[in-house]
Amino acid sequence: MWDGAVHNLDAQAMAPIENKLEMNETLVHVVSKLNERKFYREQFFKAWGDSVVTGERVLKSISQFMLSLESKNNKYDQVLNGEMKFTEQEKNGYVLFQKNCNACHTEPLFTNDEFKCNGIPLDDSLHDFGRGAVTTFRQDRLTFKVPSLRNVEMSFPYMHDGRFKTLQQVLNHYTSLTGNEENISPPLNHSVNLSSNEKQDLIAFLLTLTDHEFLTRKEYQFPQTLQHEITKRSHR
Ligand code: HEC
Repeated sequence: MWDGAVHNLDAQAMAPIENKLEMNETLVHVVSKLNERKFYREQFFKAWGDSVVTGERVLKSISQFMLSLESKNNKYDQVLNGEMKFTEQEKNGYVLFQKNCNACHTEPLFTNDEFKCNGIPLDDSLHDFGRGAVTTFRQDRLTFKVPSLRNVEMSFPYMHDGRFKTLQQVLNHYTSLTGNEENISPPLNHSVNLSSNEKQDLIAFLLTLTDHEFLTRKEYQFPQTLQHEITKRSHR
């Protein structure tokens, strides 16, 4: 969770299931729905040696899946390994990135794993104070976990509430900061200056963080057999 309320990966999967603003479900009901499906009973048998779906097995299965997600073969990684070369534009974008962004979105994971405030004002509908709502400390107000920028091309809409649709809008946000926003974290308390050409260069660099191999890997795709079953049901 972007407010850091969940500490254990097994429990993380539970949070969005039962959160009112997310799936608004109960684990008990999810388990009973899964037990009704032959497909899931078979999958649970393969994974656990027993076809009974239980809450614990659901959460452990999801956390094991999350641990298996490893993206490390984008163009940036290949340049670092000496297999590829950046274009001039990407190279320029990389320099701009290191100067303006790397303090928080730190290489090579593109996050420093800290809670920071990047100056976005409180959202109108959720009134989400981020980490501040969890700790209630004033210094945590409006701070959020710094997200990794690996595959950022695909992670839109951006920010915890999805307020920006494009990377251009994200960069326009960073360059319009005054530095006086509530609780804003250094180095963003000093203005970020980027010309429109520099923004394009920075975006060209961010696009090198897209790992096409990872994103299209077959094991991560929605299971075909389940897709068939769902389509069959909806035609009934
Ligand atoms: C002070 C730390 C800090 C700096 C410096 C910073 N960011 Fe961020 N960035 C954040 C935080 C915190 C978030 C998450 C905010 C939220 O959840 O609302 C974020 C979110 C983002 C996102 C959205 C990611 C997503 O998947 O939703 C993008 C893209 C991004 N930053 C790009 C940049 C770029 C490009 C720069 C440099 C111009 C930069 N950031 C500089 C802290 C920082």
